Amino acid sequence: MNPIIKEDLDQLAQLLDAARKMGEAHLQQLTDHPTSTNPENINWPDLPETGLGALGTLEMFRTLFYPHIVASSGPRYWGFVTGGTTPAAIMGDWLSSVYDQNTQLTSGRGDASALLEIQTVQLLLDLFDLPDTFMGAFVTGATMANFSGLAVARQWAGQQLDLDIARDGLRMHIPVYSAQPHSSSLKALSMLGMGSSTIQQVPTLPDREAIDISALRNLLPSDKMQPVILVASAGTVNSVDFDDLQTLAELKKEHNCWIHVDAAFGGFAALSKEHKHLLIGWELADSITVDFHKWLNVPYDSAMIFTRKEHAVLQIQTFQNSSAPYLGNPWEQFSYLNYVPENSRRFRALSVWFSLMAYGKSGYQSIVEESIEMANYLADQLLQTGCFRLLAPVRLNTVCFQPIAEMKGSFSVAEFLDELNREGIVFMTPSQYKGETCIRAALVNFRTNRAEVDKAMDSVNRVIKKLAL
Ligand SMILES: Cc1ncc(COP(=O)(O)O)c(C=O)c1O
Repeated sequence: MNPIIKEDLDQLAQLLDAARKMGEAHLQQLTDHPTSTNPENINWPDLPETGLGALGTLEMFRTLFYPHIVASSGPRYWGFVTGGTTPAAIMGDWLSSVYDQNTQLTSGRGDASALLEIQTVQLLLDLFDLPDTFMGAFVTGATMANFSGLAVARQWAGQQLDLDIARDGLRMHIPVYSAQPHSSSLKALSMLGMGSSTIQQVPTLPDREAIDISALRNLLPSDKMQPVILVASAGTVNSVDFDDLQTLAELKKEHNCWIHVDAAFGGFAALSKEHKHLLIGWELADSITVDFHKWLNVPYDSAMIFTRKEHAVLQIQTFQNSSAPYLGNPWEQFSYLNYVPENSRRFRALSVWFSLMAYGKSGYQSIVEESIEMANYLADQLLQTGCFRLLAPVRLNTVCFQPIAEMKGSFSVAEFLDELNREGIVFMTPSQYKGETCIRAALVNFRTNRAEVDKAMDSVNRVIKKLAL
């Protein structure tokens, strides 16, 4: 054994303790840690001929790189849709590295991590109040979940015309309809060889991002046996709008369609008594995406593709790894590697299982309800400045706003965000909503409370004062 590795192994307790202390110190001051840095001048070291050892490397990381780690898991990081990490989820995640299981098989003499994944899927179905007509599999994020759902949808469309697309390749055009798909669904269609431009844009309801279903009816092929894929949104990124999933599902009675629902963060509406109606009908979908590194507050990278169990054969046809006898026969033995893009898989279920067990249904209900309350509080505070207007009502957890016309002489969205993010107290990102440049604040962190929103507003007010002078 290499002597440096040997030395590290001999002092394992000390190493793990040093990493724990560093992690703990970060988490203890997370709320005061900057939400942005300027990582331009990092002095990147070359690959050493003789290694530094783990403690030496930790020290180098601490001085060179740690100053540029931002508080993305903190309470005022509202850019993109970025969740935090619950204490129990961190424990599960650390242990999944320690155990280093390859989560694939549920039979034979392999490890039991896939069994825990299956149990975790059951807990998640319960959490989201979804029926057990669904199975689920962990993937890295909502992009891969959308990819996986649409890959099985593609296989289904081929099957309708007696084609096996996974085996023989894409030999047909598959119509795909959506009003406001997340960019990752377009990326998925590109990766699937269907082409991002294949999506037919469905008009939205007035002042909404949701599908106008009568317009969709007019667009659907007159040949009702023609297989089509509908990509529905359960929470668009800007205005968090929801398609009418129940009415969409009814279209299945008339048309030959597969419904894929991107509920990356909107799926968590299921945990709020006041908002769960937004998801009525999602239980009738064929495939559903939910992201866990968002509102479930587990570390990156973690998401799930839920698919109806009746589609299991299509899913195996799509992802089977059949030409490797050493990995088993996909048709005889359940193995996750035949259900998702990856063969080797991290033990992602562990951090989710830890967090679900530690905080239970009511813990997650309160996280979701608090985020929604804080988004509404933030919207009120922004309006009270007299400098901003909302571009859409706060439907769930996101505030989509822009400077009022009178402020446009003082600052643009870009100038405002530039100053705000330079302060490093709160992080927000720009977007485009119905052709207007705007700012989004997406609140999905369990630490975000009134005091944190107030701190963010102090920063907003300072920036307004500075720019409006
Ligand atoms: C609705 C929706 N779908 C998909 C994604 C892609 O998620 P990920 O970055 O986890 O792949 C996002 C990310 O914000 C999202 O909001």
